[in-house]
Amino acid sequence: MTLSAAERALIQAARTARQNAYAPYSGYPVGAAVQTDDGRIFAGCNVENASYGLSICAERVAVCHAVMAGAQRITAVAVCTPDGGTPCGACRQVLLEFAPDPEACAVWIVKPDIVVQRYTLASLIPHGFRLK
Ligand code: THU
Repeated sequence: MTLSAAERALIQAARTARQNAYAPYSGYPVGAAVQTDDGRIFAGCNVENASYGLSICAERVAVCHAVMAGAQRITAVAVCTPDGGTPCGACRQVLLEFAPDPEACAVWIVKPDIVVQRYTLASLIPHGFRLK
């Protein structure tokens, strides 16, 4: 698979973010990065809590970083998991909220050492819920 410089940067951001994951309960560190239509990249890692249900996924941290910075249109995503796992259903819905064109929004699933798969966001959340 030949990757563009932008794709490599996005994937690298997800891998780097994973190094800061706080996942003492699951032992499953995740890093994520979103690219927005202005070319910027925003990263996130999962942040767990002793009250397990309060844990936050890496993808949603990345989305919140983007929105905080005034970037609300996501054009590509990378997620780095230990085993090639894909985003949970809640994160798919949150990504969809900020993806104007889910058919064109690549979701790269990678491990620390290899690229596992390229999906589109549309394929990961068919018939997603939208109010606008
Ligand atoms: N996790 C993510 O960060 N992203 C996902 O899409 C799947 C799950 C986190 C949540 C929790 O901290 C750990 O992985 C195990 O579920």
